[in-house]
Amino acid sequence: MTFSLLRRTYVHALLLVAIASTGLAQVSAARYDDSTKVFRLDGGDVTYAFGVNERGELQPVYWGARLQPGDHFPATMAVKGRTTFEHTNSESPQEYAGWGGGVQWEPALKVTFADGNRDLVLHYIAHTTTKDGIDIQLKDIERDVRVVLHYRIDADTGVLARSAEITNGTAGKIVVEQAAAASWNLPRGTAYSLRYLTGRWSDEWQMQTRAITPGETVLESRVGSTSHAVNPYFSIGRDAQVNDTTGDVWFGELGWSGSWRITVEQDAFKQLRITGGYNPFDFGYTLAPGESLKTPIFYGGYTDHGYGEAARILHRFQLAKIVPQAPHPRTRPLLYNSWEATEFAVTEAGQMQLAEKAAAIGVERFVMDDGWFGQRKDDHAGLGDWYVNKEKFPNGLKPLIDRVHTLGMDFGLWVEPEMVNPNSDLYRTHPDWIIHFTGRPRTEGRNQLVLNLANPEVRDYVFHFLDDLLSKNDIAFLKWDYNRPWMEPGWPQMPVDQQKKIYVAAINNVYSIVAELRAKHPKVELESCSSGGGRVDLGILRYFDQVWTSDNTDAYDRLAIQEGFSRAYAPLLMMAWVTDVPNNADNRTVSLPYRFLVAMQGSLGIGNNLNKWSPEDFDTAKHMIAEYKTIRDTVQHGNQYQLVSNVGQSPDSASESVSTDRRQAVLFAYLHSSADGYDYPRLFLQGLDPAAQYTVRSISGKLSADTPATASGAYWMHRGVDIVMHGDMQAAAFVFEHK
Ligand code: GLA
Repeated sequence: MTFSLLRRTYVHALLLVAIASTGLAQVSAARYDDSTKVFRLDGGDVTYAFGVNERGELQPVYWGARLQPGDHFPATMAVKGRTTFEHTNSESPQEYAGWGGGVQWEPALKVTFADGNRDLVLHYIAHTTTKDGIDIQLKDIERDVRVVLHYRIDADTGVLARSAEITNGTAGKIVVEQAAAASWNLPRGTAYSLRYLTGRWSDEWQMQTRAITPGETVLESRVGSTSHAVNPYFSIGRDAQVNDTTGDVWFGELGWSGSWRITVEQDAFKQLRITGGYNPFDFGYTLAPGESLKTPIFYGGYTDHGYGEAARILHRFQLAKIVPQAPHPRTRPLLYNSWEATEFAVTEAGQMQLAEKAAAIGVERFVMDDGWFGQRKDDHAGLGDWYVNKEKFPNGLKPLIDRVHTLGMDFGLWVEPEMVNPNSDLYRTHPDWIIHFTGRPRTEGRNQLVLNLANPEVRDYVFHFLDDLLSKNDIAFLKWDYNRPWMEPGWPQMPVDQQKKIYVAAINNVYSIVAELRAKHPKVELESCSSGGGRVDLGILRYFDQVWTSDNTDAYDRLAIQEGFSRAYAPLLMMAWVTDVPNNADNRTVSLPYRFLVAMQGSLGIGNNLNKWSPEDFDTAKHMIAEYKTIRDTVQHGNQYQLVSNVGQSPDSASESVSTDRRQAVLFAYLHSSADGYDYPRLFLQGLDPAAQYTVRSISGKLSADTPATASGAYWMHRGVDIVMHGDMQAAAFVFEHK
């Protein structure tokens, strides 16, 4: 559709009826009002609007609760500047600003032209509506640099997906130095607070909260992957009164597994904008004439029901729209992983012995971790040589896989495809296949170097060894690990002006390898692991079915880790293992039931050395696993409520999961230490059907003697439940059901 044709169109409207996973019909809509030049998207409980102002800039109009269909937005007007230092170009917020004119705040796009010009002013030139969104074309006021902005709204959740595609239509090269997927603008205000997730290895997913004040908060990774340090997630409450159940919350997640950046900026006029995309640090993507660069997708949502609902919207959206098996991802099979039991000392007989014991307690998937390949005796050798180690597995993997199948489980295997040990045949043959700068040190991390997947030869090598592994062995699952960050991120084989493309090409090739593997081996499922939770984002989750949350499996530490994770990602995705004590993270010992009840908040796995278990341990495990199988659909697919937060290491914490049909709810409660004889605080359930009669039963722990066996949802939500729990490191779980 041409621009002139579009200008003649009065109202271009498109309604899409989508059937949400709940079975309810939801309507999303994308409309353009030609009289005001305002675009409007509606989905879930959200309306989003932006318009073209009198200067041709794309200006935000509204992002918040869903408005009435008849509500009409006036045409947008550029904000008038007050002084020379606060020029009008600087005050008017934009949907996607080039760095040029008077823009003083964080732009979405910054380029350098071959002639040295660095001024870029993007104006609207055309749009098209698609079945669930709008594409806007922007162009520089003078030069042929075009940006297509994609807006898609999810009919069920109202989550918007925004991204940009930048095309160089000029006759010379341009260098893109900064490219965001989107800028999100919030209403002018002074009381906002920001929540984000930080951490480090073995301590990921720690929730931070800070008041938003004038200036910029930078959340970023510069290490070539998502990182343990900060996750590309934010949520913003309108004021300090926002809590888990009430208040306006805007939230977002970036779908990119390489270096990324999100800035949260309150400018001199108290305008708040969140801009995110490729990390501009060390970025410089050269576009030859006719070439384009696509940004990742930045997802954003809104709710007026507080932080708890924001998390549940993200969970719903991820399971229905992002993960490879969306809209109906399979409930995760109960997994056993041998890592903490054997580390590198895997053998055929040892793995078979563990497999037999795992099958006996109800495990459904047996995963052999690191150590099975090449000359891998410890972490000094072997990565890159993906042949089966003949000393450990003289007849290949088949006898073990067959045994696992006979025991009624499927088989999974650990790989770390993007890495190489210098002590490997692969490195000796191809020392130039790694990320490095010529003549400079090749800094090792965990005795390994990072393969340069941007190089097509390397990409093909990795794809072919994985394809071969999956073709020759009956493997249902790969735990795909990634155990060090980038350092010295060079690609010396390329012309100098192309070398920084590594930041984009290497990550896209990870995605493309997995996409191709999945197409060829449709039954295989994958876990994204990066020394724990170092690579969890909505980019990787398009290709991987689950993630390893943290190498820290200490059950008490896990409470905060899992709570933080669940604020941003669905419990189904969150692998949670029961492991041995004293735990190697903190040397802490807690009971086996406590460890189970913590891990049962997510997708349960067992990582113990089963050879060390007593008969009582096996009995506990059988009981807990059998119980877990009765509640896991609710835990993994249901709505989660954090009833009492563990943040700040509160002595008590509790969470609840409610099935989407509200027939089952599971309550988990934890006590660090009781003091002064106080009883455990009363817990008030949420999300039940008030009129339905729910019968309660215990998985572990006691309710007070006056608790009725059956009561209405209203009773459990408003009268609440009293758990009898005293002492140190106690846990309890109860199931509420109505037929
Ligand atoms: C990483 C993972 C662990 C384990 C080891 C194997 O640390 O996070 O779960 O797989 O690698 O070397």
